[in-house]
Amino acid sequence: MLIKKTPDILSSEITDSRLYFGRRRFMREAATLALAASLPTRLLADKPTWLNNISPSDFSTSEQPNSYSDITTYNNYYEFGTGKDQPQHQARNFNPWPWQLKISGEAEKTGTYNLEDILAGRAMEERIYRLRCVEAWSMVIPWVGFPLGELLKEFLPTSRAKFVEFVTLNDPSRMPGQKTRVLQWPYREGLRIDEAMHPLTILATGLYGEELPNQNGAPLRLVIPWKYGFKSIKAITEIRFRETAPNNSWRQSQPGEYGFYANVNPEVDHPRWSQARERRIGAGIFAPKQETLMFNGYADQVASLYAGMDLKRNF
Ligand code: MTE
Repeated sequence: MLIKKTPDILSSEITDSRLYFGRRRFMREAATLALAASLPTRLLADKPTWLNNISPSDFSTSEQPNSYSDITTYNNYYEFGTGKDQPQHQARNFNPWPWQLKISGEAEKTGTYNLEDILAGRAMEERIYRLRCVEAWSMVIPWVGFPLGELLKEFLPTSRAKFVEFVTLNDPSRMPGQKTRVLQWPYREGLRIDEAMHPLTILATGLYGEELPNQNGAPLRLVIPWKYGFKSIKAITEIRFRETAPNNSWRQSQPGEYGFYANVNPEVDHPRWSQARERRIGAGIFAPKQETLMFNGYADQVASLYAGMDLKRNF
């Protein structure tokens, strides 16, 4: 098993939580008021050492994390270009603040909230989650986030809430890729409610102890490490509790190739390539590919969610 209880977290993965949230608040205010750009640097330089650190989650892997540069320059984010090196440039001027999050559907509490207000109350509950991420390639990313389920519970989903749908911001003036027809916009994803409530499904607000970079889905994105990367939807503006299964963007676009579950499974090939092995980004072009693990190595935590299901049919 690759997950260990007391991971050896690098100091670079950690940011003092009050500094982190102070900086986040500051950056929002700076964005709104167009304040001088020199101040964040000063805040960073003044980092006090006596405050508490964000602590690592028990789910963190002991594998070496990818570099900040790998994680922020090799991205899939079609709203900001279809090339993996495009989002870092095309999302540079995207200002995610202020951000509104709509909660709708089968829940007792619904409405549109300022994300800032939602996160302010959660500051001390965020953890570092150093998790593997797999598509045809793989990375290990030290996210900062908190379990999605903790947030969902606050809106009191009803017994009819069997699924949860997630929707990305739909604004072609701010997301230039939405002017093309490469996908049907806005990007959508969905989970069964038990998947959404699993403590390994997180909402990420940062990485490497910093605010979430735009190209990685600022200000709020999902991370579901036992599923292929496309399930981890970025820049979420709506969470809808549903009685029926929602469609998801990649299945909508290519239903024979992408399913609803998208659980990492080395025994089920994508129609156009094997999914048995993965190329670890940053390992060098001559490094051998590594074997992909069932549920991306998180089988002990999540296999029970799919007991009795045919995972070849439910891909
Ligand atoms: N979310 C939105 N809104 N748009 C996208 O194009 N791409 C997905 C997912 N979330 C995507 C998205 C895919 S295919 C992957 S692999 C991951 O984001 C990549 O996340 P990363 O760039 O942070 O590694």
